[in-house]
Amino acid sequence: MARQIVSEIQTARKNFKPQLPAILKNGPTSIKPKFGKPTESASDQEILKKLFPNTYGMPEVNFVKGKKPEISKKVVKVGVVFSGGPAPGGHNVIAGLFDALKKANQKNKLIGFLDGPSGIIENKFQEITAPVVDKYRNTGGFDMIGTGRTKIETPEQFEQTKKTLLENGISALVIIGGDDSNTNAGLLAEYFKNEKIDISIIGIPKTIDGDLKNNQIEASFGFDTATKLYSELVGNIERDACSSRKYWHFIRLMGRSASHIALEVGLKTKPNIVLIGEEILAKKITLSQIVDQIADIISKRAEAKKNFGVILVPEGLIEFIPEMKELISALNDVLAQNEEQLKSMSDITEKKNFIYTKLPEKLATLMKSLPENISSQLLLDRDPHGNVQVSLIETEKLLIDMVKAKLSELKKEGKYTGKFSALSHFFGYEGRCGDPSNFDANYCYALGYNSAVLALNGLSGYMSSIRKLTRKPKEWQCGGIPLTMMMNIERRKGKEKPVIKKALVDLNGAPFKLLEKERENWAITESYTFPGPIQYFGPSEISDMTTVTLKLEQRNK
Ligand code: FBP
Repeated sequence: MARQIVSEIQTARKNFKPQLPAILKNGPTSIKPKFGKPTESASDQEILKKLFPNTYGMPEVNFVKGKKPEISKKVVKVGVVFSGGPAPGGHNVIAGLFDALKKANQKNKLIGFLDGPSGIIENKFQEITAPVVDKYRNTGGFDMIGTGRTKIETPEQFEQTKKTLLENGISALVIIGGDDSNTNAGLLAEYFKNEKIDISIIGIPKTIDGDLKNNQIEASFGFDTATKLYSELVGNIERDACSSRKYWHFIRLMGRSASHIALEVGLKTKPNIVLIGEEILAKKITLSQIVDQIADIISKRAEAKKNFGVILVPEGLIEFIPEMKELISALNDVLAQNEEQLKSMSDITEKKNFIYTKLPEKLATLMKSLPENISSQLLLDRDPHGNVQVSLIETEKLLIDMVKAKLSELKKEGKYTGKFSALSHFFGYEGRCGDPSNFDANYCYALGYNSAVLALNGLSGYMSSIRKLTRKPKEWQCGGIPLTMMMNIERRKGKEKPVIKKALVDLNGAPFKLLEKERENWAITESYTFPGPIQYFGPSEISDMTTVTLKLEQRNK
């Protein structure tokens, strides 16, 4: 019985027809690009101008109605690749791209590089045909062609990429990725222009983390669905918490750096505490102060006989706590500078003792004071972009241990009389591959379709951009944003590098302000809301609802 229901939902979902923005509806030959003014990068303009002599300053592109019959005359072969963590809706990007290419010319071909950028380097691909696309329409995951985190960065890898694309007669490559992968797209676009090779590179803004956004890109895809999935789970836990009234739930939520996911889920579910990494950094709140604040709320609730509650902990919190940030940044440098020597050490204690000698004394003392599991997790391999893998650091457990110790102290002083029983949860991977919400299904299809129009117009070094996202899809505006426009210089693997600027939670932005206004109330009284599962069908105000974040951020635009 259950199987039948599942398959009915899957079939119904497969038959969902994404709505296209009006401008894209008549296909690539009825659209022409309108160019805006030259652009500047987010900061570090002079350095970036030198690093990207061919692609810096390109104008923004808006698509308007027009005739471009020549587009259908040429037969093209386009490549597509997923890069980084999965995000709901990726298959619809490919579906949109495929449909647009076929609409322009039935002979056009799409190939998918397998298992991420390594598929390009190793020349591993699969042709994406109609039956393949149809099997994956409106489904979650990236399993159609797989994904990976390999970074194309060495001269040999660039050379290999060129070889693969030229050998296969590829005229455009669409890279579906987050900020780091789109930085890579920008570097590739610059490389090909420099080599006078006519291959377009187009980026697609993907990441559940929601940190790939700016004045031009309103949202990355996947954030909508992932936060809806997490909100359902958090709502369920809240209901359990106030049913059994005996546990404090510490829930760590994915989102490698920025706290957008925790903020959005917090606004949707109104738990007792929502920690926001960016606020902690801005107010220089130390780890022990965070613990004191949590313990204070726990004791206040205990006075009202409420020995239960729910706390949201953003995955990236650890990197925002000032002293931990300093430690992680110093560790990044030590690990990068002593890679070979550390590789030769198999024992974690030996590694730690070596690292202590390389750290400033203050940081070595801090590291020694951490529980063994946390200090070991801080040393795990960085990802290929040099980021610490926060999904593997159990910050929620660290907080539970420290809060427990603090509450025992308070008990001894007679300031706490409650019972503290805590459970830890990590909601991460379960949010990344769900079937996309209607919003993400539509948005992704439009992003993919739009990327084909950019590529067919020979544009390169652009991110596919769909704007006015709080309106109905038919009113969405389409075009392209130069990748260099979103860049700044940051320190990675011990070196200054051009990267697309991550959007952190804006402490003056409407979503954070709303949390700030409400949270005192949420701490003490149960304001919990239970969003329930994603609604694919039913009244549009429920099934097509966007995130609170997007609604608040775009309210006055
Ligand atoms: P992307 O930035 O590649 O979209 O990935 C984001 C993310 O889902 C983070 O939320 C999480 O910290 C990380 O990926 C986990 O990475 P991995 O899949 O390599 O374990």
